[in-house]
Amino acid sequence: MNAVVLNHPLIDHKMSLLRDEKRSMPEFKMLLDEIGMLMVYEVTKELELEETVIKTPVSVTKAKKLKSHPILVTILRAGLGLLDPFMKLMPNSKVGFLGMDRDEVTLKPRSYYDKIPMQALENEVLLIDPMLATGGSALNAIDFLVGKGVKNITFICLVAAPEGIKAINDKYPDIKIYAAALDEKLNDKGYIVPGLGDAGDRIFGTEDNENL
Ligand code: PRP
Ligand code: URA
Repeated sequence: MNAVVLNHPLIDHKMSLLRDEKRSMPEFKMLLDEIGMLMVYEVTKELELEETVIKTPVSVTKAKKLKSHPILVTILRAGLGLLDPFMKLMPNSKVGFLGMDRDEVTLKPRSYYDKIPMQALENEVLLIDPMLATGGSALNAIDFLVGKGVKNITFICLVAAPEGIKAINDKYPDIKIYAAALDEKLNDKGYIVPGLGDAGDRIFGTEDNENL
């Protein structure tokens, strides 16, 4: 299995708090934001830099800046919860959205929206979704981007199941996957075990039996 599982004491600590079913909605969102910021630090370590010359109040000096700004693409809805820390720390990054949800019976993704910046054709794309379960949604998103001509994609999630990692590895061996945690398996409803439940419901406060 080819994925980078981020190994950081603060991420592990905050993941243990986030997973707990007792977390309130505001606590869940705050922890997701904090873990997201730690993830940004880790997943951007290999971004290319170029030299620039700046003038501080004291002198002129050489400095380094990003060669290009990665394009952020998130999968609605739960992806929104992890997008914010990326947008905060990379405010020059353009942002794209792919709307899809899983059919609860077939577990297959259904697409309902797309809006991707043109620059995704040249720049690295960071594809963000907190949950990688069967891998259906991630593969649907990657297929869409590749079909449009996007060449450089990195997939970033909070919790990954082995089944999801395998699905991406098998079809797209060159796509790098980052996860804050690698869990045990999927249950018969396609939920990650132990996981954290339905990420979208926990971020936005919805429950299946409460939807209109
Ligand atoms: C969640 C999650 C992923 C998908 C992962 O979204 O955000 O997109 O499930 O599952 P998969 O790997 O089996 O495809 P969900 O379909 O629950 O929609 P939501 O974000 O609107 O809640
Ligand atoms: N989507 C979620 O939000 N949670 C899971 O465990 C699996 C898919």
